[in-house]
Amino acid sequence: MDAAIRKFIFHDLQTIEGYIDPPDALVFLAILRHQALAGFEGAVAEIGVYYGRSYFLFRRICGDRQPIVAIDLFDIDGATKGGAQYLQFVENGRRLGLPVLEDLVIKGDSTLLKPADIFAKAGAVRFFSIDGGHMLHHVMSDTHLAADTLTDHGIIAFDDTFNPTWPEVTVGVADFLREQQGAFAVFCITKYKTYVCRRAFHAEYSSAIAASPDLAAFEHVETEFLGSKAARLENPMRRRLVHQLLVRSGMGVFSERAYR
Ligand SMILES: C[S@@+](CC[C@H](N)C(=O)[O-])C[C@H]1O[C@@H](n2cnc3c(N)ncnc32)[C@H](O)[C@@H]1O
Repeated sequence: MDAAIRKFIFHDLQTIEGYIDPPDALVFLAILRHQALAGFEGAVAEIGVYYGRSYFLFRRICGDRQPIVAIDLFDIDGATKGGAQYLQFVENGRRLGLPVLEDLVIKGDSTLLKPADIFAKAGAVRFFSIDGGHMLHHVMSDTHLAADTLTDHGIIAFDDTFNPTWPEVTVGVADFLREQQGAFAVFCITKYKTYVCRRAFHAEYSSAIAASPDLAAFEHVETEFLGSKAARLENPMRRRLVHQLLVRSGMGVFSERAYR
């Protein structure tokens, strides 16, 4: 286990307003570590940056030389483009010592982007996180952008799958998988996210998830999803409660121990 990155996940990242929680941060870590070990090259891209919680996780894990494309409308607070949300995002990076790679930021509607826009910024993508608009047309458009810019060995992480608040996200992922007729396969499912790769890499990513020391704390439950077997990572209620108690009682520095 990488103590410094785990400290970052359980402490520093929690200071950024946003949505990736420690279990998915650990899955991101396991996948990115495997890609680095396997020599899988390519950029990282994220649709739906918000204030950068998962973006700064990418920055921390991947280091300064990896291109990370950040796509968002940056108008969440109703301000004009480049307004308060963007300024807070940049300020968060300055505070964490992980400055935003501003040349690789795309401010605008992801559904209007073409693969060439991503290639021009960073080349092909090995890890594409989709967490932007949550209606079916957004998910379909973002998924095709991801699939069309993905390296052979790349993965797509979909946020808010199986969340009853956003049912069309799940429909979009299922539509994509069926439309692709088995070319893409799900290898991991968490409470909030679904992870997909090309079928030829399914066994490899499944092994990486099974073997990751950072994911050993979770129960790995084999789950069938549209023609592939995925590891569903179960996070017992007891652990979540202990983690929350430690964070709320000001002992957040110890909260990482709940996930060993
Ligand atoms: C749930 S937040 C993302 C959370 C973020 N991934 C994190 O780790 O905290 C969704 C973001 O998607 C952005 N968004 C929504 N629709 C979009 C679109 N069509 N194009 C680009 N970004 C969009 C919003 O501005 C918002 O910042």
